[in-house]
Amino acid sequence: MRLDKYLSLCGKATRTETARAVRGGEVLINGVPARRADSPVEPETDAVILRGEPVVYRAFTYILLHKPDGVVSATEDRLHGEKTVLELLPPEMTRLRPALFPCGRLDKHTTGLVLLTNNGPLAHRLLAPTRHVEKTYTFTVKFPLSAEDTAALEAGLDIGGYTTAPCRVETDPAPEQGPRSGRITLHEGKYHQIKRMMEARHNQIISLCRVSFGPLTLGDDLPSGAWRYATEAEIQALEAYGS
Ligand code: URA
Repeated sequence: MRLDKYLSLCGKATRTETARAVRGGEVLINGVPARRADSPVEPETDAVILRGEPVVYRAFTYILLHKPDGVVSATEDRLHGEKTVLELLPPEMTRLRPALFPCGRLDKHTTGLVLLTNNGPLAHRLLAPTRHVEKTYTFTVKFPLSAEDTAALEAGLDIGGYTTAPCRVETDPAPEQGPRSGRITLHEGKYHQIKRMMEARHNQIISLCRVSFGPLTLGDDLPSGAWRYATEAEIQALEAYGS
């Protein structure tokens, strides 16, 4: 396998970054500085060191992305020509096989954390309704939430043929008219769930942002539209969560 493909697969560097690291003498293959970004690497047996750190070979790629408003969580949108989360990644990422896909969907106008991976079995486990992966969103709504609204949202309510499971709602302090923002943590993910929950209380979502997904959190290091590889610790936490 080519070195640049190997480092990209292992979640360490894009092709451009690999080329730069090779030029800077920052990549060693079995103790010898790599001369080219396409130098051959034997994934299972060669020892690769990038900037002094041994690279752990990973057959799958894991990416954390901060989805902006208006981008769709699909792999392609031929029908409507909308921009997809995959189009926020460098083109080489879209050529990975197996292909990357978003692990769970956010609505077009919901922003925040999306995990992209090509580890199908892990994604399948994380998305299984029986797994109850915890997801937290910050929200703003059109009308203030009363204590009854919060209690009803937390207890579970009918969103049109389905009663939601209990969840956690923390409203932001708002001394005068009552809170119009806060955080909601769910362990399920029905279609438009939070929107429908607020509608069931005669309210309306103004903005929604996912700030955590299972063990992953959206940090300040990831501004809207940016992406990064998951760290080793995050990958291990995901695997533990999904096992
Ligand atoms: N609930 C919604 O209504 N939309 C999302 O994107 C996620 C949860």
